[in-house]
Amino acid sequence: MNDKLKPDNANVAVIGAGYVGLVTGVCLAKLGHEVVLIDIDEDKIQAVNHKKAPPIYEEGLEELLGQVHIEASSDYRKMMGSDIIYICVGTLADDSGNIFSEHLIDATRKIAEVLKERDSYYVVAVKSTVGPGMTEELVIPILEASGKKAGSDFGVCMSPEFLREGQAIYDFMNPSRIIIGEYDKRSGDILCSIHESLNAPILRTNLRTAEMIKLATNAFLATKISFINEIGNICKQLGIDTYDVARGMGMDDRIGSKFLSAGIGFGGSCLPKDIRILVSGAKQAGYQPEFLEEISTLNEKQALKPVALLKKHITLKGATVGILGLAFKPGTDDIRDSRAIIIVQALLDEGASVSAYDPLAVDNFRKLFPGIDYVSTEEVLSCDAILILTEWPEFYDLDYRGKIVIDGRRIEKAREARIYEGVCW
Ligand SMILES: NC(=O)c1ccc[n+]([C@@H]2O[C@H](COP(=O)([O-])OP(=O)(O)OC[C@H]3O[C@@H](n4cnc5c(N)ncnc54)[C@H](O)[C@@H]3O)[C@@H](O)[C@H]2O)c1
Repeated sequence: MNDKLKPDNANVAVIGAGYVGLVTGVCLAKLGHEVVLIDIDEDKIQAVNHKKAPPIYEEGLEELLGQVHIEASSDYRKMMGSDIIYICVGTLADDSGNIFSEHLIDATRKIAEVLKERDSYYVVAVKSTVGPGMTEELVIPILEASGKKAGSDFGVCMSPEFLREGQAIYDFMNPSRIIIGEYDKRSGDILCSIHESLNAPILRTNLRTAEMIKLATNAFLATKISFINEIGNICKQLGIDTYDVARGMGMDDRIGSKFLSAGIGFGGSCLPKDIRILVSGAKQAGYQPEFLEEISTLNEKQALKPVALLKKHITLKGATVGILGLAFKPGTDDIRDSRAIIIVQALLDEGASVSAYDPLAVDNFRKLFPGIDYVSTEEVLSCDAILILTEWPEFYDLDYRGKIVIDGRRIEKAREARIYEGVCW
């Protein structure tokens, strides 16, 4: 194999067809590469092969899937001829930040099992978010257990993914930067060559640095959110408009205006988990990351504020509370670590009934809360009180007059409610 792949015609395998893997695979196919997607979930495989609605929602994904040639399979032998193998399986972390790496271990073992038969060089690129040192200490030893040697028989990279759910295709095609952590120069050269056509700045580092760039990036974004929420909680006490404060701060280009929307905090599959992984990695390395721990603590407390505010206005026991928004943010059906989970549970614990609406995330939420009512926006608006938990565009046009609204996401129109409270403004 050459140390430079054709930027528009390489053989690529993507392991894991979730938010990251499916978008990566479809976009690489769109760029002209021969892509095989490997997953253990037969529904996902069938959806891809039959070009049906993909099992996750991403704007433009279904359309792109219909345009490209891509094969999905549960058979790892399909990746035998691949020049690059991206690992995109899910990584989870418990409340203490311990990573459940079963999927990563299983996928890596299966890759090793197949590729021990192969004589030509290839590169394994970890895209899954992993803790500091895991590519060197976990992935490479499993691959080498096959009898093949990193650096001579195969290359290894750690190339973290920064896509934003809801804009994942745009982000893949227009990345702000590509980080390539490399085991050695040859591995990095090959991975660089496949990204060349995207014309994005590429930063090459060692494997551990790439892992840390991902974790530190998300920890910083989480910090901005918890910071502005803390400022918001102070502003609410003082009768100051937090959003004006954030606007004024954001005009300073050393700060920037993004991730300064005060509200009920951050959720999703990345920010809460990545900060826990970083905290746990720091502790294992002998450092107590008090600041980072506080970011998570503040975030968990912030999620419960709407419930506390609502109790000032109504008795929750026996009340029907309407929820607008279940997804962790607009533009996705993803409810992983969504603040709505904490809030709905708290309402049920207080004896309230819950009627919820979300344009995309109801099916996912129903798996966690089969017993609550899933209704239209009109029915939500007829509840005793309404909590706004996701800033879906359609919530900006509803008629809130006469209602009791606790707003977790700053929907201006909701101020017309009879009783309106912003969670931290
Ligand atoms: N979702 C995001 O926005 C995002 C952004 C950046 C990074 N990441 C990271 O990327 C990784 C993947 O995230 P995701 O959101 O796509 O997860 P996901 O849960 O949506 O998808 C993971 C996929 O891996 C499959 N899988 C599990 N074990 C497997 C195995 N042994 N072999 C083949 N497939 C297997 C699952 O069936 C699933 O389809 C995680 O580490 C995550 O932290 C996610």
